[in-house]
Amino acid sequence: MVAQKRQQARWNEKLITQKGGPGRRAFIPQQIEVPRAEVVSAWKRQKAAVLPEVSELELVRHIVRLSQMNHGVDVGPYPLGSCTMKYNPKVNERIARFDAFGMMHPDAPDIVQQGNIEVLYRLQEVLKGITGFGGVTVQPAAGAQGEYVGMLITKAYHESRGETKRNKVLVPDTAHGTNPASAAMAGYKVVELPSTENGYVDLEALEAALDDTVAAFMITNPNTLGIFEPHVKEISEKVHKYGALMYLDGANFNGVVGVVKSVDMGFDIQHFNLHKTFSGPHGGGGPGCGPVGVVDHLVEFLPKPLAAYDAENDRYYFDYDLPKSIGRVHGYHGNFGIAIRALAHIYRNGGEGLRKMCEAAVLNANYLMEKVKKIKGFSVPLAEGIPRKHEFIASPVPLMRETGINAGDIAKAILDYGIHSPTVYFPMIVKEALLIEPTEGETKDDLDAIVDALREIAEKAYEDADIIHSMPKLTAKGRLNEYDLAKNPVLSQRQSGD
Ligand SMILES: Cc1ncc(COP(=O)(O)O)c(C=O)c1O
Repeated sequence: MVAQKRQQARWNEKLITQKGGPGRRAFIPQQIEVPRAEVVSAWKRQKAAVLPEVSELELVRHIVRLSQMNHGVDVGPYPLGSCTMKYNPKVNERIARFDAFGMMHPDAPDIVQQGNIEVLYRLQEVLKGITGFGGVTVQPAAGAQGEYVGMLITKAYHESRGETKRNKVLVPDTAHGTNPASAAMAGYKVVELPSTENGYVDLEALEAALDDTVAAFMITNPNTLGIFEPHVKEISEKVHKYGALMYLDGANFNGVVGVVKSVDMGFDIQHFNLHKTFSGPHGGGGPGCGPVGVVDHLVEFLPKPLAAYDAENDRYYFDYDLPKSIGRVHGYHGNFGIAIRALAHIYRNGGEGLRKMCEAAVLNANYLMEKVKKIKGFSVPLAEGIPRKHEFIASPVPLMRETGINAGDIAKAILDYGIHSPTVYFPMIVKEALLIEPTEGETKDDLDAIVDALREIAEKAYEDADIIHSMPKLTAKGRLNEYDLAKNPVLSQRQSGD
């Protein structure tokens, strides 16, 4: 099929501070009849803040024009691997905005906010059901914070048993970058394990690294190649034999949810990325939510409080009675809005629906992989013939050798087709990696559009590589000078001379 290009809006939009005029206002609230409080003079501004003065229409047009010069899931495909930029149903957004949730002060007495505590409690319960764990906290604000919490729990557990010489965490080289960072932040020495050519954990290297100084084995499964570790049971038996814990980075849960339970794979601790699997918006810096689940004997170490239910009195409450808890890791209820979206998504889909969601994500990734593999100039390295889960890596090394066009050039050129770039140069174990994750939401037409775009880029590269070097041309901003961006960045309005 012929690849369709898309012209992005290109407004000559000024900064909001360069618009409007004195006295213009978007909205003037009524004076309220509350006496003015005197502010401590040290806190008072010496002169009025320079704020934009614009009418409501100017403001709305400004925001809409900026949004038209942007790319999002609501505009076109967003196959950014490892980030799961999937479509999140709008109904979940509406539910999260209900006044009953949004207007409730988290300091209100438990009896007043029964519904909110119930949401947290129910989310804990469904995540327990999906994984088989004995306890879940929804406090952590992101996947990486969940990992850090998991490492602190690991530490607290070993210390409670007097096992203080456990100072290492084993991390395969296919792990997400946050895994070694979280283990190191918790004070552990990180030992990287190599992978086999199938992207699996090298079992001999694991065996050689295991001893009684290992605190945990931390694996991203499916890993950053989209490959499920088939020896996970065997690995967990080996790790447990040495008294270490099995940690699952469950951020890629989209690829296995509803099909396998984490406890059945032998995991003791796992974090989830609600903003990747269960309808939280991902990107723009959050807010995220990275709940952590643990097996029964680790529940006492979870952050406190946990949401709890007193069946006798039919009352929800916060349970602070966890004497070995690692303590609070977030104020109030964590990123509560994301918890609401996740619960709504899980309830709307049900068990069957979640499994279908997972199967569709896996089918889409494998369909795309098979098509991309056949494009001249591309290869799908490692794990020949092994199906992927929710994402896969394509590499344009053959194209680069013949034309000079690399993964970065492709990531830029694909923008002219109304498609967001895949993740590039990650994971680092694959040269010129394009990590592609279509997600379950895309139709076959959209998947074919990605294939057509990649094929046309490759064909053009063979004809005349300069065409690709000059792309994107149809985006609001064209190709930028990377040297200037890195060496002479203009980071403030004042510096730009405006
Ligand atoms: C596999 C994996 N682990 C961990 C993380 C870290 O999650 P967060 O960005 O919420 O900190 C991500 C991010 O998307 C991820 O893809």
